[in-house]
Amino acid sequence: MRQPQLLVPKVVGHRGAAGHAPENTLAGFRIAKALGVSWVEFDVHLTADGRCVVLHDDLIDRTTDGQGAVGDMVLEEIASYDAGAWFDPRFAGETIPTLEEVIDLLADLGLGANVELKPTPGVEDDTAIATMELLRSAWPDHLPPPLVSSFDYRSLEVARDVAPEIARGLLLETVTDEWRGMVEAIEATTLHCGHTPLTPARAREIRAAGYPLFCYTVNHAGRAQELFGWGVSGVFTDVPDQVLPLV
Ligand code: G3P
Ligand code: MG
Repeated sequence: MRQPQLLVPKVVGHRGAAGHAPENTLAGFRIAKALGVSWVEFDVHLTADGRCVVLHDDLIDRTTDGQGAVGDMVLEEIASYDAGAWFDPRFAGETIPTLEEVIDLLADLGLGANVELKPTPGVEDDTAIATMELLRSAWPDHLPPPLVSSFDYRSLEVARDVAPEIARGLLLETVTDEWRGMVEAIEATTLHCGHTPLTPARAREIRAAGYPLFCYTVNHAGRAQELFGWGVSGVFTDVPDQVLPLV
């Protein structure tokens, strides 16, 4: 299959700009834009009533004033909790956004996105299907095509089957020798990994094989510079203002 067009920059705002604003919120995406990024990364979960919401954890406890599992709640309840004040009182009133709301905001801001599928265990298929169908129907033509990634291999298989034309990235914390076969089997365009266990030799191997390589979560400019020196294509960072001057 033809490789989808890929326009991911070297610096991607992680969960928006998680060092400066509550992660995975509309305020966070606006601040990421203001800090100068052209792409953001965020995480997608499925609610009990089948809606895609932008949230990292399976539980809402850490990032809202509520408690419980996102997969057990309907959207109306999830949207009633505050997702900003835990980070700083000036962000009070932020809520867990739907994927539709985030796409609308990205369209206004002109931001590209790496959409990470973060399924609650047991709803891998439904999360991938709902997200890919929404990206297919609602992604604005004027934005660069999205890149969908996941640690969850099943989700990527479903993503490939539902929307093969949308680029996929395989997320691995540590890259092992199996990476090549895993990437080929799901026809992934990119490989994403934790920067801490990455070695220069592994980075060179991946790049020599022709795959763009993205590392998370790189919050120091010096480390980003080192990774770029190894051939790493781009980094996810909570503090894009610190890393952007490098590029
Ligand atoms: O997609 C890169 C990075 O976000 C993966 O880890 O846990 O922050 O979603 P996590
Ligand atoms: Mg993520």
